[in-house]
Amino acid sequence: MSAGFICVAERSALARNAAISRSVGAYEVAIFDVDGELYALENACPHQGGPLVEGSVRQGVVTCPWHAWRFDLRTGCMTLGDFARVARFAVREDEGRIWLSEEPIEE
Ligand code: FES
Repeated sequence: MSAGFICVAERSALARNAAISRSVGAYEVAIFDVDGELYALENACPHQGGPLVEGSVRQGVVTCPWHAWRFDLRTGCMTLGDFARVARFAVREDEGRIWLSEEPIEE
């Protein structure tokens, strides 16, 4: 696996179309499975810190469980406006495990 990635879970720990959260350094990261594809966003909504891992996901967009702000899982960008963004992490599946980048992706 590439340098800068950390193994955070067995792939089997994340069911299809579900989400889990894991700590990476100072960050808590929500990892989403969408039809077998993996996405990872910081697990803290930029509005008031809502846990995105508990949000509902539809068509690649997660809705924060607290006040319904929505974020595109591919970009971390808010879909209802362009004034908020969630940090994204690189996420990979390798050898039956899930790997996260140690730091957010620089935008
Ligand atoms: S904390 Fe997420 S919308 Fe308010």
